[in-house]
Amino acid sequence: MRFIFPLLILIPLLLMLYFGKETFYIEDSLTEAPSYDYHFVLITEEVGNQYWRLIEKGAKDAAADHNIYLEYIGPKISDTEERLATLDRMIAAGVDGIMTKGMNDETFIQLVHKASEQNIPVATVDTDYEKSGRKFYVGTNNYLAGYLAGENLIENTSGEQKVAVIIGLSTAQNQMERLEGFKDAISSSDRIELIAVSESNITELGAAQATYRLLKVHPEITAIFGISALDGIGIVKGVEEMQPRQKPYVIAFDILPETLEAIEEGLIDVTVAQYPEEMGKLAVEQMLAIKNKQKVESIHYTSTGIVDASHVVHGELIVPPKEGAFP
Ligand code: BGC
Repeated sequence: MRFIFPLLILIPLLLMLYFGKETFYIEDSLTEAPSYDYHFVLITEEVGNQYWRLIEKGAKDAAADHNIYLEYIGPKISDTEERLATLDRMIAAGVDGIMTKGMNDETFIQLVHKASEQNIPVATVDTDYEKSGRKFYVGTNNYLAGYLAGENLIENTSGEQKVAVIIGLSTAQNQMERLEGFKDAISSSDRIELIAVSESNITELGAAQATYRLLKVHPEITAIFGISALDGIGIVKGVEEMQPRQKPYVIAFDILPETLEAIEEGLIDVTVAQYPEEMGKLAVEQMLAIKNKQKVESIHYTSTGIVDASHVVHGELIVPPKEGAFP
Protein backbone atom coordinates (compact mmCIF):
# COMPACT_ATOMS: atom_id res chain seq x y z
CA MET A 1 0.00 0.00 0.00
CA ARG A 2 2.94 2.25 0.81
CA PHE A 3 4.11 2.01 -2.85
CA ILE A 4 0.77 2.38 -4.55
CA PHE A 5 0.22 6.01 -3.68
CA PRO A 6 3.52 7.33 -5.14
CA LEU A 7 2.96 5.17 -8.23
CA LEU A 8 -0.44 6.74 -8.79
CA ILE A 9 1.28 10.09 -9.02
CA LEU A 10 4.36 8.94 -10.92
CA ILE A 11 2.64 7.09 -13.78
CA PRO A 12 0.42 10.01 -14.97
CA LEU A 13 3.43 12.31 -14.60
CA LEU A 14 5.56 10.11 -16.84
CA LEU A 15 2.73 9.77 -19.38
CA MET A 16 2.28 13.52 -19.41
CA LEU A 17 5.97 14.09 -19.99
CA TYR A 18 6.09 11.56 -22.83
CA PHE A 19 3.02 12.77 -24.73
CA GLY A 20 3.82 16.37 -24.01
CA LYS A 21 7.18 15.93 -25.73
CA GLU A 22 5.57 14.16 -28.69
CA THR A 23 3.04 16.96 -29.08
CA PHE A 24 5.15 20.02 -28.50
CA TYR A 25 8.64 19.02 -29.45
CA ILE A 26 9.62 20.43 -32.83
CA GLU A 27 12.78 19.27 -34.47
CA ASP A 28 15.50 21.85 -34.67
CA SER A 29 15.96 21.42 -38.40
CA LEU A 30 12.33 22.43 -39.03
CA THR A 31 12.57 25.65 -37.09
CA GLU A 32 15.73 26.76 -38.87
CA ALA A 33 14.94 28.96 -41.89
CA PRO A 34 16.54 27.60 -45.07
CA SER A 35 19.54 29.71 -45.90
CA TYR A 36 19.78 31.12 -49.40
CA ASP A 37 22.53 33.26 -50.81
CA TYR A 38 20.08 35.65 -52.50
CA HIS A 39 16.40 36.43 -52.76
CA PHE A 40 15.41 37.39 -56.33
CA VAL A 41 11.94 38.34 -57.50
CA LEU A 42 10.32 37.78 -60.89
CA ILE A 43 7.35 40.10 -61.44
CA THR A 44 5.08 38.53 -64.03
CA GLU A 45 2.51 40.08 -66.36
CA GLU A 46 -0.13 37.54 -65.23
CA VAL A 47 0.50 34.88 -62.59
CA GLY A 48 -1.39 32.09 -64.37
CA ASN A 49 -0.35 32.87 -67.96
CA GLN A 50 1.20 29.78 -69.59
CA TYR A 51 3.93 31.78 -71.28
CA TRP A 52 4.99 33.46 -68.01
CA ARG A 53 4.89 30.10 -66.23
CA LEU A 54 7.66 29.00 -68.60
CA ILE A 55 9.75 32.06 -67.74
CA GLU A 56 9.17 31.16 -64.09
CA LYS A 57 10.26 27.55 -64.70
CA GLY A 58 13.54 28.61 -66.32
CA ALA A 59 14.17 31.12 -63.54
CA LYS A 60 13.38 28.63 -60.75
CA ASP A 61 15.60 25.92 -62.26
CA ALA A 62 18.53 28.33 -62.49
CA ALA A 63 17.82 29.64 -58.99
CA ALA A 64 17.86 26.09 -57.58
CA ASP A 65 21.27 25.50 -59.18
CA HIS A 66 22.73 28.54 -57.43
CA ASN A 67 21.14 28.48 -53.98
CA ILE A 68 18.88 31.43 -54.77
CA TYR A 69 15.33 31.89 -53.52
CA LEU A 70 13.20 32.89 -56.50
CA GLU A 71 9.86 34.51 -55.79
CA TYR A 72 7.29 34.64 -58.63
CA ILE A 73 4.69 37.34 -58.10
CA GLY A 74 2.30 39.62 -60.01
CA PRO A 75 -1.32 40.38 -60.92
CA LYS A 76 -3.91 37.77 -61.86
CA ILE A 77 -4.94 39.75 -64.90
CA SER A 78 -2.52 42.05 -66.71
CA ASP A 79 -2.46 45.33 -64.79
CA THR A 80 0.36 47.85 -65.09
CA GLU A 81 -0.60 49.76 -61.91
CA GLU A 82 -0.51 46.57 -59.86
CA ARG A 83 2.83 45.56 -61.36
CA LEU A 84 4.30 48.95 -60.46
CA ALA A 85 2.92 48.70 -56.92
CA THR A 86 4.46 45.23 -56.59
CA LEU A 87 7.79 46.56 -57.79
CA ASP A 88 7.64 49.33 -55.18
CA ARG A 89 6.82 46.81 -52.44
CA MET A 90 9.71 44.56 -53.42
CA ILE A 91 12.11 47.51 -53.28
CA ALA A 92 10.79 48.33 -49.80
CA ALA A 93 11.26 44.69 -48.80
CA GLY A 94 14.94 45.01 -49.71
CA VAL A 95 15.20 41.95 -51.97
CA ASP A 96 18.52 41.25 -53.72
CA GLY A 97 17.41 41.57 -57.35
CA ILE A 98 14.22 42.18 -59.37
CA MET A 99 13.30 40.94 -62.84
CA THR A 100 10.18 42.34 -64.47
CA LYS A 101 8.45 43.03 -67.75
CA GLY A 102 9.65 46.45 -68.91
CA MET A 103 7.02 49.19 -68.82
CA ASN A 104 7.04 52.38 -70.88
CA ASP A 105 5.87 54.40 -67.94
CA GLU A 106 7.26 57.35 -66.01
CA THR A 107 6.67 55.60 -62.66
CA PHE A 108 8.67 52.62 -63.87
CA ILE A 109 11.65 54.88 -64.58
CA GLN A 110 11.37 56.42 -61.09
CA LEU A 111 11.13 53.01 -59.40
CA VAL A 112 14.14 51.63 -61.26
CA HIS A 113 16.12 54.63 -60.00
CA LYS A 114 14.80 54.21 -56.49
CA ALA A 115 15.88 50.56 -56.54
CA SER A 116 19.29 51.50 -57.88
CA GLU A 117 19.81 54.00 -55.03
CA GLN A 118 19.19 51.12 -52.64
CA ASN A 119 21.58 48.86 -54.54
CA ILE A 120 18.81 46.61 -55.82
CA PRO A 121 19.43 45.77 -59.48
CA VAL A 122 16.35 45.73 -61.72
CA ALA A 123 16.38 43.85 -65.03
CA THR A 124 13.75 43.57 -67.75
CA VAL A 125 12.63 40.23 -69.20
CA ASP A 126 10.36 39.61 -72.20
CA THR A 127 9.89 43.34 -72.82
CA ASP A 128 12.59 45.95 -72.63
CA TYR A 129 12.45 49.60 -71.73
CA GLU A 130 16.03 50.73 -72.00
CA LYS A 131 15.27 54.33 -71.06
CA SER A 132 14.36 53.19 -67.55
CA GLY A 133 18.01 52.61 -66.66
CA ARG A 134 17.43 48.89 -65.95
CA LYS A 135 20.65 46.90 -65.60
CA PHE A 136 20.03 44.51 -68.52
CA TYR A 137 17.36 42.97 -70.75
CA VAL A 138 16.80 39.31 -71.54
CA GLY A 139 14.25 38.39 -74.20
CA THR A 140 13.30 38.42 -77.85
CA ASN A 141 14.27 41.21 -80.21
CA ASN A 142 10.63 42.15 -80.57
CA TYR A 143 11.05 44.44 -83.55
CA LEU A 144 12.87 41.66 -85.41
CA ALA A 145 10.17 39.14 -84.45
CA GLY A 146 7.45 41.35 -85.94
CA TYR A 147 9.60 41.97 -88.99
CA LEU A 148 9.98 38.22 -89.58
CA ALA A 149 6.20 37.80 -89.49
CA GLY A 150 5.83 40.51 -92.16
CA GLU A 151 8.50 38.92 -94.35
CA ASN A 152 6.78 35.56 -94.01
CA LEU A 153 3.49 37.05 -95.14
CA ILE A 154 5.17 38.43 -98.25
CA GLU A 155 6.89 35.11 -99.01
CA ASN A 156 3.93 32.79 -98.38
CA THR A 157 1.13 34.67 -100.07
CA SER A 158 0.42 35.91 -103.54
CA GLY A 159 -1.99 38.54 -104.81
CA GLU A 160 -3.58 41.34 -102.83
CA GLN A 161 -3.65 40.83 -99.07
CA LYS A 162 -5.83 42.69 -96.58
CA VAL A 163 -4.36 42.10 -93.15
CA ALA A 164 -5.75 42.49 -89.64
CA VAL A 165 -3.60 42.47 -86.53
CA ILE A 166 -4.76 41.24 -83.13
CA ILE A 167 -2.60 42.99 -80.58
CA GLY A 168 -2.36 41.82 -76.94
CA LEU A 169 -2.30 45.29 -75.40
CA SER A 170 -1.69 48.28 -77.61
CA THR A 171 0.20 50.10 -74.82
CA ALA A 172 2.67 47.26 -74.12
CA GLN A 173 6.14 48.10 -75.38
CA ASN A 174 6.87 44.65 -76.88
CA GLN A 175 3.54 44.62 -78.73
CA MET A 176 4.24 48.06 -80.18
CA GLU A 177 7.72 46.95 -81.29
CA ARG A 178 6.35 43.80 -82.95
CA LEU A 179 3.72 45.83 -84.78
CA GLU A 180 6.35 48.35 -85.89
CA GLY A 181 8.59 45.59 -87.26
CA PHE A 182 5.65 43.98 -89.05
CA LYS A 183 4.56 47.27 -90.63
CA ASP A 184 8.10 48.05 -91.79
CA ALA A 185 8.46 44.62 -93.41
CA ILE A 186 5.15 44.75 -95.31
CA SER A 187 5.80 48.32 -96.43
CA SER A 188 8.18 46.87 -99.03
CA SER A 189 5.26 45.17 -100.79
CA ASP A 190 2.45 47.06 -102.48
CA ARG A 191 0.13 44.05 -102.47
CA ILE A 192 -0.16 43.95 -98.69
CA GLU A 193 -2.28 46.38 -96.75
CA LEU A 194 -2.86 46.54 -92.99
CA ILE A 195 -6.52 47.44 -92.62
CA ALA A 196 -7.31 46.98 -88.92
CA VAL A 197 -5.74 46.51 -85.48
CA SER A 198 -7.78 45.20 -82.56
CA GLU A 199 -6.90 44.37 -78.93
CA SER A 200 -7.30 40.95 -77.27
CA ASN A 201 -6.29 41.95 -73.72
CA ILE A 202 -3.86 39.03 -74.05
CA THR A 203 -6.70 36.53 -73.59
CA GLU A 204 -7.82 33.75 -75.91
CA LEU A 205 -11.44 34.85 -75.56
CA GLY A 206 -10.53 38.45 -76.33
CA ALA A 207 -8.71 37.33 -79.49
CA ALA A 208 -11.66 35.14 -80.56
CA GLN A 209 -14.11 38.00 -80.12
CA ALA A 210 -11.86 40.49 -81.88
CA THR A 211 -11.42 38.09 -84.82
CA TYR A 212 -15.15 37.48 -85.11
CA ARG A 213 -15.89 41.22 -85.11
CA LEU A 214 -13.12 42.02 -87.59
CA LEU A 215 -14.24 39.34 -90.04
CA LYS A 216 -17.80 40.59 -89.77
CA VAL A 217 -16.93 44.24 -90.39
CA HIS A 218 -14.19 43.50 -92.95
CA PRO A 219 -15.16 40.38 -94.94
CA GLU A 220 -12.30 41.29 -97.31
CA ILE A 221 -9.67 40.20 -94.72
CA THR A 222 -7.28 37.59 -96.15
CA ALA A 223 -4.67 37.36 -93.37
CA ILE A 224 -4.56 37.78 -89.59
CA PHE A 225 -1.49 38.23 -87.39
CA GLY A 226 -1.87 37.67 -83.63
CA ILE A 227 1.00 39.18 -81.69
CA SER A 228 0.77 37.77 -78.17
CA ALA A 229 0.93 34.18 -76.94
CA LEU A 230 -2.78 33.31 -76.74
CA ASP A 231 -3.96 35.30 -79.77
CA GLY A 232 -3.29 32.52 -82.29
CA ILE A 233 -5.65 30.03 -80.65
CA GLY A 234 -8.21 32.80 -80.16
CA ILE A 235 -8.02 33.63 -83.88
CA VAL A 236 -8.69 29.94 -84.70
CA LYS A 237 -11.82 30.01 -82.51
CA GLY A 238 -13.04 33.30 -84.04
CA VAL A 239 -12.53 32.00 -87.59
CA GLU A 240 -14.36 28.74 -86.72
CA GLU A 241 -17.29 30.72 -85.42
CA MET A 242 -17.48 33.19 -88.31
CA GLN A 243 -16.89 30.60 -91.06
CA PRO A 244 -15.58 33.04 -93.69
CA ARG A 245 -15.75 31.86 -97.32
CA GLN A 246 -11.99 31.52 -97.40
CA LYS A 247 -9.80 30.71 -94.42
CA PRO A 248 -7.44 33.63 -93.79
CA TYR A 249 -3.67 33.10 -93.61
CA VAL A 250 -2.94 33.02 -89.88
CA ILE A 251 0.34 34.04 -88.24
CA ALA A 252 0.52 33.43 -84.49
CA PHE A 253 3.05 34.21 -81.79
CA ASP A 254 4.85 31.79 -79.46
CA ILE A 255 5.15 28.03 -79.43
CA LEU A 256 2.74 27.03 -76.68
CA PRO A 257 1.41 23.45 -77.14
CA GLU A 258 -2.05 24.45 -78.40
CA THR A 259 -0.55 26.74 -81.02
CA LEU A 260 1.73 23.95 -82.27
CA GLU A 261 -1.24 21.56 -82.45
CA ALA A 262 -3.20 24.11 -84.47
CA ILE A 263 -0.23 24.39 -86.85
CA GLU A 264 -0.24 20.62 -87.35
CA GLU A 265 -3.95 20.72 -88.04
CA GLY A 266 -3.45 23.47 -90.60
CA LEU A 267 -5.54 25.99 -88.63
CA ILE A 268 -2.56 28.27 -88.01
CA ASP A 269 -0.07 28.66 -90.86
CA VAL A 270 3.03 29.79 -88.97
CA THR A 271 4.05 31.16 -85.59
CA VAL A 272 6.91 33.31 -84.35
CA ALA A 273 8.99 31.38 -81.81
CA GLN A 274 10.09 32.75 -78.45
CA TYR A 275 11.98 30.86 -75.74
CA PRO A 276 10.55 31.94 -72.38
CA GLU A 277 12.24 29.20 -70.35
CA GLU A 278 15.60 30.30 -71.69
CA MET A 279 14.73 33.91 -70.79
CA GLY A 280 14.06 33.01 -67.14
CA LYS A 281 17.25 31.00 -66.85
CA LEU A 282 19.46 33.66 -68.45
CA ALA A 283 17.90 36.45 -66.40
CA VAL A 284 18.73 34.70 -63.11
CA GLU A 285 22.27 33.90 -64.25
CA GLN A 286 22.92 37.50 -65.29
CA MET A 287 21.46 38.83 -62.06
CA LEU A 288 23.79 36.53 -60.15
CA ALA A 289 26.71 37.81 -62.22
CA ILE A 290 25.85 41.36 -61.12
CA LYS A 291 25.80 40.19 -57.50
CA ASN A 292 29.25 38.68 -58.06
CA LYS A 293 30.41 42.07 -59.34
CA GLN A 294 30.90 40.82 -62.89
CA LYS A 295 30.30 43.01 -65.90
CA VAL A 296 27.01 42.26 -67.63
CA GLU A 297 26.00 43.19 -71.18
CA SER A 298 23.01 45.50 -71.52
CA ILE A 299 21.05 43.34 -74.00
CA HIS A 300 20.73 39.54 -74.18
CA TYR A 301 18.54 38.54 -77.10
CA THR A 302 17.11 35.04 -77.01
CA SER A 303 16.47 33.36 -80.34
CA THR A 304 13.43 33.87 -82.56
CA GLY A 305 12.34 32.45 -85.91
CA ILE A 306 9.38 31.27 -87.95
CA VAL A 307 7.85 27.87 -87.14
CA ASP A 308 5.66 26.05 -89.65
CA ALA A 309 4.19 22.53 -89.94
CA SER A 310 7.56 21.12 -91.07
CA HIS A 311 8.96 21.81 -87.58
CA VAL A 312 6.20 20.11 -85.59
CA VAL A 313 5.35 16.45 -84.92
CA HIS A 314 2.67 15.33 -82.45
CA GLY A 315 2.35 18.83 -81.04
CA GLU A 316 6.08 19.14 -80.40
CA LEU A 317 8.73 21.28 -81.95
CA ILE A 318 11.14 18.69 -83.35
CA VAL A 319 13.14 20.91 -85.65
CA PRO A 320 14.12 24.30 -84.28
CA PRO A 321 13.33 27.07 -86.74
CA LYS A 322 16.09 28.89 -88.55
CA GLU A 323 17.16 31.74 -86.32
CA GLY A 324 15.65 34.99 -87.53
CA ALA A 325 17.87 37.81 -88.75
CA PHE A 326 17.41 41.03 -90.68
CA PRO A 327 17.96 40.64 -94.40
C1 BGC B 1 4.47 38.23 -74.83
C2 BGC B 1 4.22 38.55 -73.37
C3 BGC B 1 2.77 38.44 -73.01
C4 BGC B 1 2.20 37.11 -73.47
C5 BGC B 1 0.71 37.10 -73.23
C6 BGC B 1 3.82 36.91 -75.22
O1 BGC B 1 3.92 36.77 -76.61
O2 BGC B 1 5.85 38.14 -75.11
O3 BGC B 1 4.65 39.87 -73.10
O4 BGC B 1 2.60 38.58 -71.64
O5 BGC B 1 2.46 36.92 -74.85
O6 BGC B 1 0.14 35.84 -73.38
